[in-house]
Amino acid sequence: MRRPVRIAVTGAAGAISNNLLFKIASGEMFGKDQPVILQLIEMPDRMEALRGLAMELEDCAYPLLHTITLHDNVEDGFDNVHYALLIGARPRGPGMERSDLLESNAEIFTRQGQALNNHANRDVKVLVVGNPANTNALIASRNAPKLSPSQFTALTRLDHNRAKGILANHTGANPRNISRVVIWGNHSTTQFPDLHQATVLDEPVMEQIDERWYREVFIPKIQTRGGEIIAARGVSSAASAAQAVVDHMHDWMLGTQPGEIVSMGILSDGSYGIEKGIFYSFPVRCDYGRYQIVRGLDISDWSREMMKVTEAELLEEKAAVNHLLPPETEASH
Ligand code: LMR
Repeated sequence: MRRPVRIAVTGAAGAISNNLLFKIASGEMFGKDQPVILQLIEMPDRMEALRGLAMELEDCAYPLLHTITLHDNVEDGFDNVHYALLIGARPRGPGMERSDLLESNAEIFTRQGQALNNHANRDVKVLVVGNPANTNALIASRNAPKLSPSQFTALTRLDHNRAKGILANHTGANPRNISRVVIWGNHSTTQFPDLHQATVLDEPVMEQIDERWYREVFIPKIQTRGGEIIAARGVSSAASAAQAVVDHMHDWMLGTQPGEIVSMGILSDGSYGIEKGIFYSFPVRCDYGRYQIVRGLDISDWSREMMKVTEAELLEEKAAVNHLLPPETEASH
């Protein structure tokens, strides 16, 4: 049996976490032979709800669940963690855009970046889920000068999975047989869900769907799915977000299937002409806890324009919080 890994979760009594923790404890994220220690973090006035959730986890008697600790502050909660899932953020209500949340979340993610820097394991791997996820990841990573920015990622796997699920329903294929979908850019309405290299049972998707359906129905559907769910449920997606967190971390640590591509929000290194210094969703492959951008994909002029629109939004978000970011250090490159 392996040694247990320490996983911190913020917003731990919230709706996403309510779905997520049971999956982690049952081994869905890191495999059926990997024990886990859950370091659960909530706001002080949510600790009672968190205690209730911890009781439920205990009552499942999961063989892989080594220990649960509860914390009302990130400094204690991040102590020695190998993984940090940053879910807690000021939530978006009906009619609100993510940009409305930039400033209030900047404060939260500044403190979390500093706490990771000072308390987490040196190899900690961080996934930012709370919106605006890409820019929150930027803020957290810039506040953690002792860590490499490559240790920080933002969740666009939810969009990636949505693209597969919706395409599967449209084509009648099983999602398992759909490969090489790519989400470019921001986890927002400007993202570019790209099917140009996607395949269904190894045949190009674009030859099996109507181009007009792709541009006029599919793309806006993926871009606005989060808002559509909020409008329908009155609250954000929770179970599908939890599944995406599991998939993101699973693939990051245990590797992508051969030939498969997944989408992750990571610090741009200038690939595909995307400006450095923003967290942008790229096509990646993972192996042994590392991810690499898949290079050399064919990008048409139309696709390039779509990629630039979402890049522009991320540059605007960065400009809006720039005054709150500490100066860049050696390690931030
Ligand atoms: C989603 O994509 O479902 C969420 O990110 C929406 C939101 O803003 O909470």
